[in-house]
Amino acid sequence: MVTNILISINNTFSLSNHNRFVTYSLAKQLIDISRIFATKIIIMNAYSIFKYLHSGFRYVVLILVLLAIIQAFLSWMGKKPYTEGNRKLNLFAMISAHTQLLIGIVLYFLSPYVKDFSHATMQDNESRYWTLEHWVMMLFAIALITFGHARSKKATLPEAKHRAIALYYTLAVVVIVAAIVQMSAFPGRSLFGIS
Ligand code: HEM
Ligand code: HEM
Repeated sequence: MVTNILISINNTFSLSNHNRFVTYSLAKQLIDISRIFATKIIIMNAYSIFKYLHSGFRYVVLILVLLAIIQAFLSWMGKKPYTEGNRKLNLFAMISAHTQLLIGIVLYFLSPYVKDFSHATMQDNESRYWTLEHWVMMLFAIALITFGHARSKKATLPEAKHRAIALYYTLAVVVIVAAIVQMSAFPGRSLFGIS
């Protein structure tokens, strides 16, 4: 179809040689551009969109959780009051973890790396990781964050509020980092890049 368009432009006798050349080049460029976009659309299917989202969103989770931890330790050790700013950062860190959970659940049903729970799947390190280990570890980390947040909310003394965040969020980060380090050993994956 594309070739036919170009041939018919070339054969349009009503155009001068120069105009024919200009029209032909413009049409060719337009077709090239549309081809590039068509390729992009094919590559960006639901799976890859959720994968990029999930892979990139880990940094939002990690940065917010790490900031909350630093803030909680400093305020706990420094015997500082529990401010509105503290509360908001702790809450946003938890919300980011819940959002990552939601994206992860969708991705679980789209990913070709997630297999059935068969014996063969469990014997292969990579399939076992994606089918079972990744979400179990990450869900545990998100539960720690949610529990720590709830304990901090229930506590009345500022010291106890900061302590709950400092301890539970730190445990969660250790689990998340361990899961990501384990993942980075698989072919095509890296510690920081999006695969
Ligand atoms: C599969 C998805 C999700 C699950 C299983 C889940 C689970 C939970 C649980 C168990 C709590 C209660 C925590 C407590 O008692 O303090 C909670 C609270 C909350 N979640 Fe989620 N959540 C999910 C997704 C989300 C998403 C996508 C968002 C927002 C974008 C979100 C925002 C919140 C907020 C704002 C709270 C209340 C925090 C507060 O105590 O003030 N959650 N969630
Ligand atoms: C704090 C929570 C989580 C973090 C930080 C996290 C992080 C990651 C990272 C870094 C990747 C690799 C992406 C890449 O190779 O570019 C990934 C992939 C994936 N995650 Fe998570 N994840 C979390 C929670 C979850 C949960 C709860 C589930 C499932 C319920 C889940 C399911 C998946 C799946 C299915 C893949 C894709 C495997 C693939 O097709 O390449 N994740 N996650």
